[in-house]
Amino acid sequence: MKKQEKIIDDTLEYIKDIFKYDNGGHDYYHSLRVFKVGTIIAKKERADLFVVQMACLLHDVDDYKLFGGDIGGISKAQNWLVKQSVPTEKIEHICSIIKNMSYKGIDTKMGKTLEEKIVQDADRLDAMGAIGIARAFTVGATINSSIYNPDIKPRININKDEYVKMNKEKETTTINHFYEKLLKLKDYINTSTGREIAEKRHKYMEIFLETFLNEWDGKC
Ligand code: ADP
Ligand code: NI
Repeated sequence: MKKQEKIIDDTLEYIKDIFKYDNGGHDYYHSLRVFKVGTIIAKKERADLFVVQMACLLHDVDDYKLFGGDIGGISKAQNWLVKQSVPTEKIEHICSIIKNMSYKGIDTKMGKTLEEKIVQDADRLDAMGAIGIARAFTVGATINSSIYNPDIKPRININKDEYVKMNKEKETTTINHFYEKLLKLKDYINTSTGREIAEKRHKYMEIFLETFLNEWDGKC
């Protein structure tokens, strides 16, 4: 196997090319932020750093929403890892993490191994806090959602199919997205290090929503 540091550097270049264009909230910098937070959590939780870092970097390269294909596809990630001569058991671990990544309403799978838990936490944390707010409004604009419409009520506790349909058919608004997903994320954080970060980011979103709704109602 090549040196792990060299594989990480080459993988950074690889994903920079894959995410040349911002695909509405899933750009190169999203993967880079997930990698950075994943690294912090992995060190604190004494996980297999290489597995966490590689899964963070590759977690979106097969995303069906960005590149078509099936939910849970892993072909690009797997080919890349084989090309780097990563040992088979590590490839299997990294690919199984990538397969179970996405948040899917009440059908969301919680990580089984420590490394899987950490990568899920790092990805979910990037949808929270100040960055999460900025991403939500960017993605909302990309899918032509309104910022807010008091006549459209948030739909909570929906399953994977309903969540995908709702997003596809624009039955929601960006403010509703906070109630439908972003405010629930803190309950889907696996590790105690992740939970500490999530609490701060959650509070920041609550303050944002309270301020937004006050301003909406003309309460200055
Ligand atoms: P995942 O990263 O788990 O595959 P998504 O594609 O649902 O999940 O989310 C990616 C980013 O897009 C997140 O920042 C999320 O908040 C945002 N997003 C997803 N759906 C919406 C929506 N309907 N309105 C606004 N932002 C959205
Ligand atoms: Ni992601």
